[in-house]
Amino acid sequence: MTHKFNQYSELLNCSLSRAVDYLESLPERPIDQKISSESLRELIGGKLPQQSGDPKQVLNELAENIEKGLIASGGPRYFGYAIGGTFPVSLAADWLVSAWDQNVPYYVSSPATSVAEETAAEWMLELLGLPKTAGVGFTSGAQEAIYTALITARNSLLKKAGWDVAKKGLYEAPRIHVVVSDQIHSTIKRALWMIGLGESDIKTIPTDSNLRILPQYLPEILAECDGPTLVCAQAGCIDSGAFDPFEEIAACVQAHPNAWLHVDGAIGLWSAASQSQKHLLKGIEKADSWDTDGHKWFNMPYDSGMVIVRDAALLAEAMGGNSMGAYLTDAIAKPDRNAVNFGIAASRRARGVPVYAAIKALGRQGIEEHLDHCCAMAMKMADRLREVDGITILNDVVSNRFSAQFGKGGDEFRNRLTERVVHQLQQDGFCYPSTSGYKGLKTMLFSVLNCHTSEEDIDATAEKIIETYHIELEKCQQHDVAALCE
Ligand SMILES: Cc1ncc(COP(=O)(O)O)c(C=O)c1O
Repeated sequence: MTHKFNQYSELLNCSLSRAVDYLESLPERPIDQKISSESLRELIGGKLPQQSGDPKQVLNELAENIEKGLIASGGPRYFGYAIGGTFPVSLAADWLVSAWDQNVPYYVSSPATSVAEETAAEWMLELLGLPKTAGVGFTSGAQEAIYTALITARNSLLKKAGWDVAKKGLYEAPRIHVVVSDQIHSTIKRALWMIGLGESDIKTIPTDSNLRILPQYLPEILAECDGPTLVCAQAGCIDSGAFDPFEEIAACVQAHPNAWLHVDGAIGLWSAASQSQKHLLKGIEKADSWDTDGHKWFNMPYDSGMVIVRDAALLAEAMGGNSMGAYLTDAIAKPDRNAVNFGIAASRRARGVPVYAAIKALGRQGIEEHLDHCCAMAMKMADRLREVDGITILNDVVSNRFSAQFGKGGDEFRNRLTERVVHQLQQDGFCYPSTSGYKGLKTMLFSVLNCHTSEEDIDATAEKIIETYHIELEKCQQHDVAALCE
């Protein structure tokens, strides 16, 4: 037989050397390469290739060209949005996952990765202090995890109301009331559209100045919900890192005859693994479902998310994994973990393996150190900026992020100055915060989610931010407010 398995070696070695060069360049690389989309199309696009090419040349050219337009978001001074770095061990494990090329929906299609995912799931529940019997699915990210959790919530709420979604669909189903924080992330709304609940009569719970749910409003709101009711809270608000008051929220939800509490913990659920932070999440274990991300604070390579449902049987029922075709009957009958019962994907890669590797390599202590370090770095930056006349930190910094505004004077002036400072920082390429909104104000969002961010990075970034603020302020003082608003 003439197999060609020896073809992989040269190509993978080429990838290895390219990847290592890229990763090691991250601390010095300008974060945004500032190349136009036209130039990228010239480099990367073109006509459909008709003839086969030399794979090594293709790989080298691909790396060369694509690296010209990458954002160095894995670097130590990337502070925008909610983007994490990568633990080296997880990236390395992820490469093995690609090489093994296992398909994991059924135990029989990949016994060993099924056991690795099962173990990673058990370890996660223990780390996060969530019920040991909960079901954990490895998803592409928090969006898919939210979607999965809310499908389970919808079906379970309707089942309790005497309606079987799998049999009857949603035609003439009882109405489900939806109650969410006024700061709920857009991916919850997106999931609500996708699962047929829409958003037109979502009830919102007001939040305080830290963007945290004001629980005193909840009993009154829930009293108006006279049927199945879905309540969504969050652990780690994008703009403030705030945690909703889960204890009070869970008590109200449990007092309702048919309500389900989902917690979006895409950013902050990992705080439950830190001794010094877990008090912020008191009561979170009383929810019915949770989502989180691996690729944000837990520093998995993309893509990695997790859905967790208290009652694993409800998750499995909603996923319908036991009703596949005849060719899968024997596979499903095995008593071991079939991933298809824990998520919407059928075929997928073994995403839980990099999670397993990280937990095994870092251990509880290493994970806690990583989480605490990120929070300490966010707090250090906020403290440094707060000392500067004219810089305001808008929230109490309790986690890995905060929102800030630059300048004094009216809202419009501060909004424009803030926008200019952030855009200038992004343009310079040394550090990368992003813009956001905070109760109607334009802000700088500063987020620390990368295991590589050091104290020196924070010090150097603080200098850069303060210098940029003074330059932009000076410019606007020379020109007047109208010029700033141009
Ligand atoms: C609070 C929150 N929830 C959900 C999501 C969605 O996560 P993902 O993009 O990983 O699907 C995000 C993304 O930033 C988020 O900040």
